[in-house]
Amino acid sequence: MRKAPFRIAVFASGSGSNFQAIADAVKAGRLDVTIELLVCDRPQAKVVERAREAGIPVFTFNPKEYASRQAYEQEILRQLQDKQVELVVLAGYMRILTEVLVEAYWGRMLNIHPSLLPSFPGLHAVRQALAHGVKVTGVTVHLVDGGLDSGPILAQRALAIENGDTEEDLEKRIHPIEHDLYPQVIQDIVQGAIDLDRIAKDHNSTIDRMNNP
Ligand code: GAR
Repeated sequence: MRKAPFRIAVFASGSGSNFQAIADAVKAGRLDVTIELLVCDRPQAKVVERAREAGIPVFTFNPKEYASRQAYEQEILRQLQDKQVELVVLAGYMRILTEVLVEAYWGRMLNIHPSLLPSFPGLHAVRQALAHGVKVTGVTVHLVDGGLDSGPILAQRALAIENGDTEEDLEKRIHPIEHDLYPQVIQDIVQGAIDLDRIAKDHNSTIDRMNNP
């Protein structure tokens, strides 16, 4: 049985309410991880303030100062390796990832998205769900495979859309679900109730079978 807590990094771009929920769960002893690093592509984002307040190391960068996406991801990867980060947790990180991070952390990188994937990936998922008139939407946590909000699904929670709901109404109901679900999924991974190695391996075999029928 492993004694040392799991070492994670959280990536975020904005307010960071999901980062906060994870940090709070760690502090409350509900989540056996250490947050080794917050990675943020917007130095002015509120999440940076939240991390500093929680005493968590921060790496902010301005993508425009790098020659390519790969170049800043190489820098991030160096920092993750320096800190021996085992699990990368995307929490409202609004950048497309390249193979640099996706391949290094395949099977060890999670994302949370405010819809029942594979419906409504990308920006404004809640607005997309309302525009389609769906009656049920929700939250998904999945492994990151390099596509847009795609990869094997680890957990989902559904919620009903009521007549007259606005985007703001729905977001208000979705956020608490995310804040409850994400720390729980991470703790399930830590405790082995979610076996990422098996899920990643099964996914690789499925892709192989699809490519070589
Ligand atoms: C969350 O609702 C998260 O699901 C979403 O960004 C929000 C970040 O909020 N992520 C995506 O849409 C990913 N495609 P937060 O900064 O308050 O945690």
